Amino acid sequence: MKKQILTLMLLAAAVSLHADELPLLGNVFNRQHTSLNGEWNYIVDVQETGYYGYRLDKLRNGFFINAKPQRPEDLVEYDFDKADKMTIPSDWNTRDERLFFYEGTVWFKRSFTHHKQPGHRALLYFGAVNYEAVVYVNGREVGTHVGGFTPFNYDVTNLLRDGENFVIVKVDNKRRAENVPTLIFDWWNYGGITRDVLLVDVPETYIQNYKLSLDRTNRKQINFSLQLNSKTAGQAVTVSIPELKIKQTFTTDADGHVGATLKVKNLQLWSPDNPKLYNVELTLANETLTDAIGFRTIETRGKQLLLNGEPIFLRGISMHEEKPNGGGRANGTEDARKLLTWVKELGCNFVRLAHYPHNEHMVREAERQGILVWSEIPVYWTIAWTNEQTAANAAGQLTAMIHRDQNRANVIIWSIANETPHSQQRDAFLSRLAGKARELDDTRLISMAMEVTSASNYHNRLQDNMNQYVDIISFNQYIGWYRDVNDAAKMTWEVPYDKPVIVSEFGGGAKAGMHGETNQRWTEEFQENLYRENTAMLDKIEGLAGTTPWILKDFRSPRRLLNGVQDYYNRKGLVSDGGEKKKAFYVLQEWYKSKK
Ligand code: GCU
Repeated sequence: MKKQILTLMLLAAAVSLHADELPLLGNVFNRQHTSLNGEWNYIVDVQETGYYGYRLDKLRNGFFINAKPQRPEDLVEYDFDKADKMTIPSDWNTRDERLFFYEGTVWFKRSFTHHKQPGHRALLYFGAVNYEAVVYVNGREVGTHVGGFTPFNYDVTNLLRDGENFVIVKVDNKRRAENVPTLIFDWWNYGGITRDVLLVDVPETYIQNYKLSLDRTNRKQINFSLQLNSKTAGQAVTVSIPELKIKQTFTTDADGHVGATLKVKNLQLWSPDNPKLYNVELTLANETLTDAIGFRTIETRGKQLLLNGEPIFLRGISMHEEKPNGGGRANGTEDARKLLTWVKELGCNFVRLAHYPHNEHMVREAERQGILVWSEIPVYWTIAWTNEQTAANAAGQLTAMIHRDQNRANVIIWSIANETPHSQQRDAFLSRLAGKARELDDTRLISMAMEVTSASNYHNRLQDNMNQYVDIISFNQYIGWYRDVNDAAKMTWEVPYDKPVIVSEFGGGAKAGMHGETNQRWTEEFQENLYRENTAMLDKIEGLAGTTPWILKDFRSPRRLLNGVQDYYNRKGLVSDGGEKKKAFYVLQEWYKSKK
C-alpha cells in the first residue's frame, strides 16, 4: 500500500509542476528554434480513456506518461510507438479517412533530442491547435489552451532533459456552446495540431514582444515599444534600421519595458503598390532579433478610408483557411502563395481572412505582396454572450491575434465578430471586446460584420447599436441568394453613420461546370448574373470603401448537404475546390478594374 501512496504522491507532484502559459512570444519564426513539425504518432481516444481513465483510477496512468511495460505481467493498454503517424502540422480530417467527420480527442506524441545549455531557456510554441490542447512534456502536464486559431507558448526549460525527450498533446475538437466559435458555424471543424510546433531557444532575459509603427499624425516619427520577459530594469536595447540610418539604444524601465519614439526621414511608405519592408534589428545583451517591417498610416475621415492620407477603395475577397486543392487546413508560405495568386488575378488589394486568424505565413506573404488584411476572431453567430469564460476566451484570442501580427503593415482592420444576432447581452459582450482591441492597438481600425435587419421591397437600412464602437461599418447581405430578388441593381441602401462602409459579404453558389439560364440555381450563369446585379447595386452605396465578396474558393462545410451539388462544400467560391475559375470570377475581375 505504501508504494502505491508514494507513486500517487509523486504523480500528483509531477502533474502539478505546470509550466505557465506565457504571454505570446512575438516574431517566433525569426528566433533560434528547433522545428517539431514532422511525423507524430497519434491515438484516437473516443472515450478519453487515456485521460479520464487516469483521473478515475489514480493508480492507472494517463496516456501522457507514455508508459511501457517493465515486467511481462505489466498491463499497459496503449503504445504510441506502435501507433499510426501523422505529418504535423495538419488536420486529422483529411489525413485519416476514418476521422473525416470525427469530433473528439486524439492524442499526439513526438520524441525529440534537446541539449540543455546554462543561461538558455526553451519555450514550446504552437501556431494553433483546434480546439483544446492539453500539453505534456516528459509525462508532466504543462498546461491547457483553448481556442483553435491563435498561437500559445510555455516555458518548458525545467521539464526538459539533456538528450531524449517527448511531448504529448491531447487534442479535443468537440464543439461546445460556451466555446468561441460556438456549436454551429459554416466551415469544417478541422481538428488537430494544425500549425507549426517549435522549440524556441531564448536567453534568460529575452525580448517577449515589441511594436514599431508610424505615428498617425507625424510621419517623421516611428513609435516604438518593447517588453522583456521579465521586469528587468536597466537592460540596453538597440533598435537599428540601417536603410533609414536609424540606430538608437534605450534602457528598459522597472517593468522591463521600453517606450520611445524614433525620428525618421526619407521613409518609403508601405502600400499595395509599393509594399516596402525595412530590415529591423533589435539587440539585447544576449539576443539579436530581426524582422521585416513596413510603415504606413490607416485612418478614416467621415466616410473616407485613408491609407497614407489618400482615399483607398478596398478591392477585396473573403477567404477561409483551406489549401488550394481541397486538402484541408492551409498552412505555410506555399499554400499562401497559391491562394494569393487567385487573389491577385482578381485584381484585389485586400483580403478578409475569415472567420478566425489565419496562420502567420499567410499574413506575412500577403504583406510581401502588398495585400491589405482584415483579421477576425471567431465570435460567430450565437455565442454564449453571458458566459464570463466565453468572454475571457474571446478576449484571449483577440489578444493573441493582435500580439502576433501587430507589426504587420498590411493588417489594417481587427474584426471582433461576424453576423451576431442583436441583443443587449451581445452589445455588452462586443463593446467590451471593441474596447479591448482599442486598448491593445490604437493604430488600426476596428470593425465587425453586421447583419442587415430591415428591408422593405427595394430599400435596405442598416441599424446596429454597435455602430458607435467600430471605425468602419461593415455588413453582410445576400440579395439574389438568401433574399430571392432577381434585380438587386434596383436596391437602395441607407447606412446612417458617418463612417466608411464595407460590404463584408455578398455572393451566391454555383457548381463549377454546371450551366443553364440565369435563373437556374447552382449554375455558373446564376452566380455570374448575381455578381453583375450586386456590383451594380454596390456602386450606389454612399461611402462604400470596399467589399470582400463571399468567397474566393469553395470550402468544406457540414451544413451544405445537397447531394451532387454541395457534397459538404459551400459552393459560393469564385474558384472551385478543384481550382476551376467560375464565370463570376471574371465579373468581379472586370468590376475591380473600374475601382482602381
Ligand atoms: C454567412 C456567414 C458565412 C457563411 C455564408 C453563407 O454570412 O458569414 O460564414 O459561409 O453566410 O451562408 O455561405
